[in-house]
Amino acid sequence: MNNTSIDQDIFGSVCMGYAVIESNQLKQWKVFLQQGLGLHYNADEKAINEISFRMDDHAKRLIIQKGCSEDVVALGWQVEDQETLNVILKRLAEREISVEKSSIADAEQRGVAEFWRILGPKKQNIELFVDAKMTYEPLNMLSSSFVTGKAGMGHVAITSRKPLKMQRFWQEIFNARVSDYIEQVISGVTLDITFLRLNERHHSIAIATTKEIALDPIRTKVQHMNLQGASLDDLANAFQRCKQLGYEMAHEIGQHPNDKELSFYVISPSGFEIEFGWAPLVIDERTWKTTKYFAISTWGHKPENPSKLYMLSTNLSNLKQGVTTVIHPEYSPI
Ligand SMILES: [Fe+2]
Repeated sequence: MNNTSIDQDIFGSVCMGYAVIESNQLKQWKVFLQQGLGLHYNADEKAINEISFRMDDHAKRLIIQKGCSEDVVALGWQVEDQETLNVILKRLAEREISVEKSSIADAEQRGVAEFWRILGPKKQNIELFVDAKMTYEPLNMLSSSFVTGKAGMGHVAITSRKPLKMQRFWQEIFNARVSDYIEQVISGVTLDITFLRLNERHHSIAIATTKEIALDPIRTKVQHMNLQGASLDDLANAFQRCKQLGYEMAHEIGQHPNDKELSFYVISPSGFEIEFGWAPLVIDERTWKTTKYFAISTWGHKPENPSKLYMLSTNLSNLKQGVTTVIHPEYSPI
């Protein structure tokens, strides 16, 4: 490989492909994703200790495996082709970031041909793959469809005490671009969010941090994961179904000022949030200008239970976790 490929801009060639969630509440997750958010449940799955869900022609998009973490334990990122993957692997090698190739069983579990795993910022397992197993069996789901394709299956928001290092990681390895920033003062604490895009999706990763003192009171590696429904009906119906099934809304329907997405945030069985969204804008690279906003939401996104302290999340009030994070440094591979 020559230096040209290392200097190559791979922006637009990587998107979010799957997520592995670990939970001891497989039954609850099945009801939540199938009946609440309206995904396709893979009923033919033979594995005992896991369940999986489709949103499109990919055989698996969300995998829930049995275990104690109650968290997202791996995020799969689909790379356009082998050449681009080689560029990424070379960049990782240059930084002495170790890469582990998947076992056959792990690849099978995720519904991909093979993948390469690295320990990313905040000890998040980042798994890179090229070929996903596809299926053309009809989808049987309550949502009409989900927007995936080249922009991937949605986005994740991650809290960090090393936001610049986390940002640098995504920029240096994946040529991430900054879409915009939001700064909002809530209860005297300044919350800073940086939105990074890897492709035409407004953001695939949002990095949130507290300004005055670097606290991370979020227990989970992912603060929320976003899935994009295809229509306003899908958004409204998923919201109603989740309410009827008794799931707590961290934030009811509202709109963000930057990506203009309409969305609600519902608390998953594992405690972190899933944002179900509709119609975020698609970025035109020729005209886009990076902006800073001073409010997370233009309207709505009100907590269902206002008696709790809501900033980013219902579990942001977990001060014990916040204090612990001051003592333990946050891992960064670069
Ligand atoms: Fe979001």
